[in-house]
Parts: sequence; C-alpha cells; structure tokens
Amino acid sequence: MVQIGNLHFENTPIFLAPMEDVSDTSFRMICKELGADVVISEFASADALIRNIRQTEQKLSFCQRERPFGIQLFGNEAGSMCEAARIAQEYNPDFIDINWGCPVKKIAGKGAGAGMLQNLPLLIAITKEVVRSVKTPVTVKTRTGWDETNKPIVELAEQLQDVGVSAISIHGRTRSMMYKGEADWTLIGKIKENPRMRIPVIGNGDVDTAQKALQVKERYRVDGIMIGRASVGNPWIFSAVKSLLEKNMILASPSIEERLAVCKRHFDMTLQDKGEHYGILTMRKHYKNYFRELENFKQTRIKLLTTSCAEEIVSLFQSIEKQYIKQER
Ligand SMILES: Cc1cc2nc3c(=O)[nH]c(=O)nc-3n(C[C@H](O)[C@H](O)[C@H](O)COP(=O)(O)O)c2cc1C
Repeated sequence: MVQIGNLHFENTPIFLAPMEDVSDTSFRMICKELGADVVISEFASADALIRNIRQTEQKLSFCQRERPFGIQLFGNEAGSMCEAARIAQEYNPDFIDINWGCPVKKIAGKGAGAGMLQNLPLLIAITKEVVRSVKTPVTVKTRTGWDETNKPIVELAEQLQDVGVSAISIHGRTRSMMYKGEADWTLIGKIKENPRMRIPVIGNGDVDTAQKALQVKERYRVDGIMIGRASVGNPWIFSAVKSLLEKNMILASPSIEERLAVCKRHFDMTLQDKGEHYGILTMRKHYKNYFRELENFKQTRIKLLTTSCAEEIVSLFQSIEKQYIKQER
C-alpha cells in the first residue's frame, strides 16, 4: 500500500509527469482514462499567481475526473511560494507539488526549479514554510543534483521528509544534464535503501515501455513511477504499464483506428479548452506519436504540423481514416 497524504494506492501508482504545454486538462483526462493513476498540472509560477495573472490561474483548474490531482508550483522565495500555495489550495487539489527540478535557464538561473539545488538550506527552509502554510499535503519533484560533482539527493530526500513532505519524485538526471544522457536510477534506488525513508519515492526518467517500468520497479523498489515524454501522443503507455505490473500481461499496441479516435477526441477537447489558435499549436506536439506507425505519412504529418486551420485538420483526420483504416478493415 502506498500512501500520499489522504490518497491510498493498492498497487504501484503510475504518474503522468507535469509537462508545460503538454499535460493540460485535456491530455490529463485522456491519460487518466487510459490508466494513469495520478496527474499533475503544468508548473505554475508562484509570482504570477500572486499577481493574479489569468493565464497562470487557468493552469490550476481541473475536472473532478482527473483526481487524484496535484498542482505544481515554482518560485524562489518563501513568501510568494506560501501565498501561491494558499491560492492553489483554494482549488482543492489532492496535493501541491513544489518544482525543485526545472533546468531551464530562465527559471533555474533565478534560483527557482533546479536552481535551488545550489542552495539546499534555502530549499529546505522554503519547503518547510510551504508545508506549514497549507493543510493540503505537499510533495516535491526534483533531480538528483546540480551536476556530476554535486548529487545530494539521498540526504536531501531525508531532509525533505523531515520537514513534512508527503512524497518525493526524482528525475534521475542532474540539472546540468538537462534532458541529455541517460537517467541514472541508481541514486533513486539508494534513497529507497535508506531505512529512515518512510514517504513514497516516485522514480522518473526515460521510462518508455511497460518492460522498462517493470524493470525499474523491481530493480530500484520505487513506490511509484512517473512517465513524461513517452506519453506524448501515446497515452496507452499507462494501460500497458498497468497491465504488465498488475496482471503480468503484455497489451497489444492500439490499432490505427483507436489511435485516430483518441487523437480526434484529444483535438476536440483541446480546442474547446484553449480555443482554435492555441489548441492547434498544443496538439502539434502529439501528432508524431499518435501516427508514428503509419507508412508514407510524411506529407500528411507536415500538413498537420503547419496548418492553422481546424477544418483542414479535421479533413486530414478524414483522409487518414480513408487511407489507413478503411484499408485495414
Ligand atoms: C515538454 C516538457 C515540459 C516539462 N515541463 C515540466 C514541468 O512543468 N514541471 C516539471 O516538474 N517537469 C517538467 N518536465 C520534466 C518532466 O516532468 C520529466 O521529469 C522529464 O521529462 C523526465 O521524464 P521522462 O523521461 O519520462 O520524460 C517537462 C518535460 C518536458 C519534455
């Protein structure tokens, strides 16, 4: 049994990773339907939230069907982080997640996200204040460290537990690795070997098949697994992982028909949520994977990725159906 705040999981919970411009409410709902146990918002800037920036406030909204749901915040200062956490709490999420892992220069360079891995006393102090400022359970998502010479995650995880964090997710890369190289799960495994650790440890990084999920679960004994990039245009990764971990069954890949049906629904939901312009831009991240198995698809893909017209996209979907599905039947 895995417990995070008031949430209880009989089996290893599988998380959809927070991803800016990807893990919006439409995609989260689709991942949920296809097996994700927990979903988290895109990160929201604490400073923007306390200044009532509407676009950031919209990131906190979710549907009941998305539960369990976490709101992720980033910032570099206790006052604004606590105030933002109180605002986030009003939305009644199941937990509030602090981002101490974002490597992007405009965030880490200001000491937020992974930037705080260079100032661990402040990281712990802010986390402690945020935990105290809200009733909602607080979790942390971070990386193994700043760079090759500075990987404090094993001790840091214990210190975060001591200030009241309810769970910790670790992406097995340092800040300086950005998204390059391979995620190093050995340090994540070391956290689990620490007999003082009681809170759930969620492992993250490069899980792109059900087999890989099973392997990291068995080898590193993590309490939960978080999946990001491999879910983009491929939300079936969650059902595949659940099936292998819980029933020891390998699921067949979805048919083209199923892929198209889910993509169409995802498209409709996204445009309804974000409007035509921004919805079309968001969906471009997903097409490559939704249709990755189709032969001679390059021209259609280019059109999907360049048109700004919803009607044209709908007719491209129809042409995919005609060309690939009618043929399949
Ligand atoms: C497009 C994109 C956006 C991301 N946005 C966030 C974010 O908002 N918050 C966060 O904690 N991590 C973010 N991440 C990192 C992911 O949550 C995850 O830690 C990372 O991709 C490693 O997992 P993966 O190998 O399964 O993708 C983002 C990653 C990508 C690729």
